[in-house]
Amino acid sequence: NFEIEKSRWKINDTIDQLNHLTAHVNNLPDNAIIHTSFDDFIFGVSSSSHQIEGAWNVDGKSENVWDHFTHNFPEKITDGSNGDIACDSYHKYKKDVALLKKLGVNFYRFSLSWSRILPTGFSNKINQAGIDYYNNLINELLANGIQPVVTIYHWDHPLKLQALGGMTNPLFADWFEDYSRVVFENFGDRVKFWLTINEPRLICVFGYSTGVIAPGIQSGGIGEYLCSYNAIKAHARSYHLYDKQFRQKQKGRIGLPIDCQWNEPETNSTEDINTAERALQFQCGFYGQPIFSKKGDYPQVVKDLIANRSKIEGFFRTRLPLFTPEEVNYIKGTSDFIALNHYTTFYVAEDKTIQKSTEMPSSTIDSRIKDWQDNNWIGEFSVFKTVPWGFRKILKWLKDNYGDLDIYVTENGFPNIVEEMHDKKKIDYMISYLSNLLDAIYEDGVKVKGYGFWSLLDSFEWMSGYTMGFGLHRVDFNDPKRTRIPRESAKVYADIIKNRKLTP
Ligand code: NOJ
Repeated sequence: NFEIEKSRWKINDTIDQLNHLTAHVNNLPDNAIIHTSFDDFIFGVSSSSHQIEGAWNVDGKSENVWDHFTHNFPEKITDGSNGDIACDSYHKYKKDVALLKKLGVNFYRFSLSWSRILPTGFSNKINQAGIDYYNNLINELLANGIQPVVTIYHWDHPLKLQALGGMTNPLFADWFEDYSRVVFENFGDRVKFWLTINEPRLICVFGYSTGVIAPGIQSGGIGEYLCSYNAIKAHARSYHLYDKQFRQKQKGRIGLPIDCQWNEPETNSTEDINTAERALQFQCGFYGQPIFSKKGDYPQVVKDLIANRSKIEGFFRTRLPLFTPEEVNYIKGTSDFIALNHYTTFYVAEDKTIQKSTEMPSSTIDSRIKDWQDNNWIGEFSVFKTVPWGFRKILKWLKDNYGDLDIYVTENGFPNIVEEMHDKKKIDYMISYLSNLLDAIYEDGVKVKGYGFWSLLDSFEWMSGYTMGFGLHRVDFNDPKRTRIPRESAKVYADIIKNRKLTP
């Protein structure tokens, strides 16, 4: 209910000092719906290899696309930095696990560095030091009662594969399957929760279309859609490999994490409502429908606006390669759950100028941003507003569109100014989003089963370098020891996990 959400926010805005969770919750309005339990629900935090590990050329790791991008084009990174040392988690993983233990999380989501495990990109050469590192991390987590949730690939593929076109090479699916086999064989006895390719839309749009992130390919929609097509097939190959050859013995689950923001129509006009739905289909449905839905394949509106339209207008025909009926069937249902990375909401209105352009990559179709309130951050990819009710709506949309799959929120977070230790905006964000997550579960019947906050530490935030304080812990990147210091939010999150309630 819109009114309730609004009043909830008014109260939040007036709280100047948020000393602890109790004070916060006691100030909520009487009509706010507060749910009290997270039954059967896991909490965690998320991270990724290139953003935290450092040790970029240590123990046999080869150069990945991000090493190359940051070393050769430092001007493309806000502070000219790179991931050479980052949080030095390669050497300090035990410290990270100790922090996780203190937070009391049920799971830790991290990713594997492809170039640390397979320096050539292929399984002809397995780097034992890389395998050892992840074995040590996994064992340390398990020894502390924390479940590893492992992303196989989070944007940092070996440079050697990029020389062959990276994700635009049709053989990318073979390469990814080859790599997946190595990781299932080495870690699958202890890892029971796999995520294949992190946010394929984002890497395809920004890595291969606009080229603002590594590998920096600027090829418009052509690169983006080739990348998407191959990413979807690669994911499906990894899933089937696990399903057929590993699942029975290893008994784990595997799925795809998509980035999916909410798109709210700016007015009640049919045009705006249709436009918002179209934006959702482009952003979430592009990957969601082929993989999560019973129907399979790209959404019809995506096919109409890209593939079919380019045919009618004589535009380059293969811009969005379409799946054959066999491929549709092979890809459909290849996720045991929906993994959702969600941060913000956009207002959307029909924009005839944009719609007319056949060159527009999907990310920009009809999306517009409007101020919601004064709690926002400008990221490399967009302006992110704090819109907690958009979270509830996207969760419901996923259920309505893809049925009753379990949903794990694998990312949600907010960056404060790096120096800030009393990170009120992040805490407000976390509590209000969790409150809406509870509404999604208890009011809307969505099967949300877990929540992973982004992120454990301040880390290398891609083209924003080290300028964003996403961490529950601050890391001073001028300090050679890379000391981790808990922010206020770490305490609040630990309380929520311990009490398993938003009420104390
Ligand atoms: C998306 C990505 O998965 C992650 O790498 C990034 O740091 C966060 N969201 C925040 O932008």
